Amino acid sequence: MTLRLGNLEIATPVVLAPMAGITNAAYRRLCAEQGAGLYVCEMITSRGLVEGDQHTKDMLVFDDLETVRSVQLYGTDPVYVGKAAEILCAEYGVAHIDLNFGCPVPKVTRKGGGGALPWKRNLLGEILRHAVTAAEPYGVPVTMKTRKGIDADHLTYLDAGRIAEESGIAAIALHGRTVSQAYSGLADWDAIAALKASVTTIPVLGNGDVWEAADALRMVEQTGVDGVVVGRGCLGRPWLFRDLAAAFAGESVATLPTLGEVSTMMRRHAELLCRHMGEERGCKEFRKHVTWYLKGFSAGGAMRRDLGLVRSLADLDALLDELDPEEAFPVSELGAPRGRQGAPREKVVLPEGWLDDTDGIGCEIAEDTVSGG
Ligand SMILES: Cc1cc2nc3c(=O)[nH]c(=O)nc-3n(C[C@H](O)[C@H](O)[C@H](O)COP(=O)(O)O)c2cc1C
Repeated sequence: MTLRLGNLEIATPVVLAPMAGITNAAYRRLCAEQGAGLYVCEMITSRGLVEGDQHTKDMLVFDDLETVRSVQLYGTDPVYVGKAAEILCAEYGVAHIDLNFGCPVPKVTRKGGGGALPWKRNLLGEILRHAVTAAEPYGVPVTMKTRKGIDADHLTYLDAGRIAEESGIAAIALHGRTVSQAYSGLADWDAIAALKASVTTIPVLGNGDVWEAADALRMVEQTGVDGVVVGRGCLGRPWLFRDLAAAFAGESVATLPTLGEVSTMMRRHAELLCRHMGEERGCKEFRKHVTWYLKGFSAGGAMRRDLGLVRSLADLDALLDELDPEEAFPVSELGAPRGRQGAPREKVVLPEGWLDDTDGIGCEIAEDTVSGG
């Protein structure tokens, strides 16, 4: 099973979900070293890119081995999104652009962005068309990623699927939660199946709660999707992409690394971060991954704390040397949720009057310059 996005053929129908603060060049390479797939850069804002914001530019770094550069773009203004798509294609050699219509963060939905935007169907269509038109001359496919809707009473995903098809979008990915659910509860795979049933001309990708390779196969079987998007399941487990590639090739592999093998992966991750960011920043970035890598292993509190304060690769090596390389993988962790879960939101923060009108632009919304979700 392969995945076709416009003229881009992906050997395994697996996409690394964009995750702000996680899916930087180092992490994308680490995952790519494990298996075939598409590895999407963390979200950057259209306006930040168009206005030459330094933080945005710093995020647009790619590893030498990244042959398919894939970036997620955020925006609420069709003109900015179109210009940003053009810049990504012309100046950064990007081969795939994903548009973010799923972000649940209040500072984003307050401006009508992310998961709030598809409520405005005309605006959604305009943004999609501007991005597609800008990327078309470069042969770059544009996809979109969205949620079920704002909340259970304001679902948008089926309309979004239709608008995506009409606008020249190459694929639509659905995270089976509403904005108000944030990351809580279970992803609704029935909604993913409903989108797949209603979208007939472009691939549909399913997202939410793939913790193991077997979950990905189950999602495909239950929903009929053309591919899966994997986020939290690979936190501290980049080898999940190896298992996913094997599963889609018809083999059943569940990698169960010893603590020694996990240490080697941690070292590789830290080394790639340091290569891209310099040793001080790279080690600081690495700290947030320590808990995920060690989840379920017996490493004690002092060791976890020290690893969480690591300042250099030499420090890291000394600490990793103290771990028992023979300790077996904690199989109780298999299939268990990891990463952000949280509670549902009582109320989604929206611009004044946002829900009054589903077709127009409705009210004035401001572009955001802050990249990284
Ligand atoms: C830390 C974190 C950051 C995220 N950042 C983004 C983002 O920038 N863009 C996006 O579309 N989704 C983002 N997401 C959502 C994921 O891409 C994905 O849709 C969600 O986690 C559900 O998939 P999962 O169950 O496989 O994790 C983020 C999720 C997490 C946990």
